[in-house]
Amino acid sequence: MKRNKLAVVGVGHVGSYVLADAMKTDLFSEIVVIDKNKDVALGEALDQAHATALTYMTNIHVYDGSYEDVKDADIIIIAAGPSIIPTDKNEKPDRALLAEVNAEVIREVMEGITAYTKDAIIILITNPLDTMVYVAENEFDYPKGRIFGTGTMLDSARLRHAVASNYNIDPKSVTGYMMGEHGMTAFPVFSRLNVQGLGEKELDKHFQGKEPLNREVFGQKVVDAAYRVITSKGWTNAAIAQAAVTLAKSVILDERSIYPVCTTLNGQYGYNRDVALSMPCIIGKNGVEQQLEIELDEKEMTLLHKSAKYIQETMKIAGT
Ligand code: 2OP
Repeated sequence: MKRNKLAVVGVGHVGSYVLADAMKTDLFSEIVVIDKNKDVALGEALDQAHATALTYMTNIHVYDGSYEDVKDADIIIIAAGPSIIPTDKNEKPDRALLAEVNAEVIREVMEGITAYTKDAIIILITNPLDTMVYVAENEFDYPKGRIFGTGTMLDSARLRHAVASNYNIDPKSVTGYMMGEHGMTAFPVFSRLNVQGLGEKELDKHFQGKEPLNREVFGQKVVDAAYRVITSKGWTNAAIAQAAVTLAKSVILDERSIYPVCTTLNGQYGYNRDVALSMPCIIGKNGVEQQLEIELDEKEMTLLHKSAKYIQETMKIAGT
């Protein structure tokens, strides 16, 4: 019988949380942990292996390994490379600052992976995410759709959380997403936001909000959300790990769920393989099954172009 196998590449704050979450999903019977720092990979794998003896953990074969172990992986989640670190509470370092160094990390990781497989679905987390996805998708000969990034799935969760908190409702009852860059220029698609069918213009009429729903204000709240976490605890990991594992679930179970993830555009919005950014996509057993070019209003189109331009500038820093 085929056993589902996951490889986690890079087990720092983010990768180790992905590993911990993946262990609890019961989706995988085998998980290999790969890190440049072999001691860290061993430590994380062993720690999780010990947990399999305890009540809430399935008996998963988890071990530290090398790229050779990805040859039969179904999913590879890449969280390798450094994260942004503000020096004080007021600083909001741009993820683009990591472009040069992390492009090299991703090139090395992709070389390692492609030496052994072109079958696994690769989910990227490393920042600056859109540029890293572009590098992985376009500098390597890997089947289309089988590489994508968590993109604005996290930003969208933050948007839904911000809207839900405003109206004191469950964020899962809010449908809405951020598009564009995973970062400073991500923008909320308010023209499509809804709570169980109630759209942008109806929400303040039906719910007692803490403040009026305003595109700019809520868009900025989402962009700032990452920094609120980072300047408090030093890094973000819980929500992004959940996003990555949710995407892995959609692939393994062929759920065909729709999430805003990052891929290279193929003509959508006028971009033809010259930028990678987030838009809603159907995620199934082949990875990105379809990119949904949803209609945006005029203001949103302007923001999309601004975001695409910004990503293209970051791509230059990465040398791609
Ligand atoms: C986040 O948005 C820093 O990209 C990371 O949480």
